[in-house]
Amino acid sequence: MTSFITQLYTVAFIVTACIALIRYLIHRLSNTKQPYLAKIMHSDNILSGSFLKESDTGHQLTPLEARALSNLQLAATFGIRNSFTTTEENTHREFRKRAAQRLNLTESEWKAIACKAQLVISSYLQISLQQTNSLHLKVSLPSMVRVVVLKVVLSTMFDEYQTHSLPPDQEYHVLDQVSDMINKLWILSKQGSTNSESLLNQLNAHLNCLLPEAYSYPLNFILPSFETMWRVTLRGVMELRFRDCETWNSHYQRMFKDILNNPTLQTMKKFDNEYGASVENIVDEMLRLYPPTRRIHRAISASDGRSPIIASVDIESLHRDPEIWGKDSLCFRPTRWRSGLSETQHAAFFPFGKKMFVCPAKPSFAPRMLAILVGAISIGIEQATLEWNKETNSFIEKQPISNRREDLNTLNISYHKSNFPTLADTSKLQLDNHISG
Ligand code: HEM
Ligand SMILES: *[C@@H]1O[C@H](CO)[C@@H](O)[C@H](O)[C@H]1NC(C)=O
Ligand SMILES: *[C@@H]1O[C@H](CO)[C@@H](O)[C@H](O)[C@H]1NC(C)=O
Repeated sequence: MTSFITQLYTVAFIVTACIALIRYLIHRLSNTKQPYLAKIMHSDNILSGSFLKESDTGHQLTPLEARALSNLQLAATFGIRNSFTTTEENTHREFRKRAAQRLNLTESEWKAIACKAQLVISSYLQISLQQTNSLHLKVSLPSMVRVVVLKVVLSTMFDEYQTHSLPPDQEYHVLDQVSDMINKLWILSKQGSTNSESLLNQLNAHLNCLLPEAYSYPLNFILPSFETMWRVTLRGVMELRFRDCETWNSHYQRMFKDILNNPTLQTMKKFDNEYGASVENIVDEMLRLYPPTRRIHRAISASDGRSPIIASVDIESLHRDPEIWGKDSLCFRPTRWRSGLSETQHAAFFPFGKKMFVCPAKPSFAPRMLAILVGAISIGIEQATLEWNKETNSFIEKQPISNRREDLNTLNISYHKSNFPTLADTSKLQLDNHISG
């Protein structure tokens, strides 16, 4: 009898323990998964336009309207009419098609761009050198990156760019002005300023010098391409070339020389055994930590006839979330990509947008272009040292560089006379006719 009761107690105990264990596991699973899955799902819902259907009365916004309404200020400030501002499906389709055509390059064009990028950085430094007459050369890093990126992007996307007749020093000056004005207008636009018309006119007059035969409004293409590329290029150069000099010397330099010599998709994907990642992984890590489109906005139609509200998807915070990427989520560590992404990480990584309007540069153009630009600039300024402001002296350990557009403007690189940059050996950089402007 006692043994029967003991057995009964034992069974009851085991059953209770099992139930407790199962409840604990369910609790843990839902606890670790729920918070970030909810964040991702919320973003997906905004981007897929499913919120638009919830409104039961009044006018329903289409996905294009939902985006255009959130970009009204940008459209007004820059006078642009493109994918981002149109509410008409035909216009949208046409613009996307034209963009995709411009971004579809042949392998020999890619080779020419890699040469071009190296020549541009070298001649930029030579021109700066001619304009200095001291023992010390100081160059603003953000200005330099913007000019180099703008020149390479313009000559890639606009055949018309080859026909301008400015001498090189004037050309660089105009490029500098153009990128500066775009930056200023962008900030004015975010501030909701209505006082930007004369700056815009100046900007378009400058662009007209560079693209005398452009038949469409150049800013329509320049804005989505240049604005994204230069910001991530600058942060990439700082991480690769200046934060971690040891890895630069032992690995990055070799890998990026490789991509400049042979800018193919295979080289992008080639796993470097010594380092433990590919160039593509390095670019993905740059886009993870420094997504140039930090947030995407959409208008959401409100019920009962009130004007729509603007919802935002915070790409940057999903890209940096420690619950998704681990404790070192704020560190630049390309080797995290070596074994692929988890399902959750995959869903949380979308520097080029997702659902309705994915960037046409995503599949191939942007990553390869970024690899070339970051490589050409980092190698081109090999002998330089970086100068920070006192407040932001050196990289803060385990913290990312600021990803805000307004920051980093006072960064300079400098050279002493003993290691002034020399002109790149153009005979080694054979240029394709198509791209040599
Ligand atoms: C690092 C580089 C780039 C990043 C991070 C980026 C990011 C993005 C993002 C997040 C979107 C989606 C916007 C939305 O949903 O409202 C987008 C769309 C777009 N991007 Fe990019 N972009 C890059 C480069 C480029 C380049 C080089 C071009 C060249 C023209 C370009 C053209 C476009 C266009 C036309 C769209 C609109 C697509 C549509 O409406 O269907 N982007 N981009
Ligand atoms: C890119 O252009 C080539 C021809 O130059 C064409 O065959 C190919 O289909 C194009 N690819 C895309 C994705 O448009
Ligand atoms: C970089 O150079 C500019 C212009 O000479 C100067 O105003 C700025 O303070 C410099 N930045 C740093 C960090 O020294």
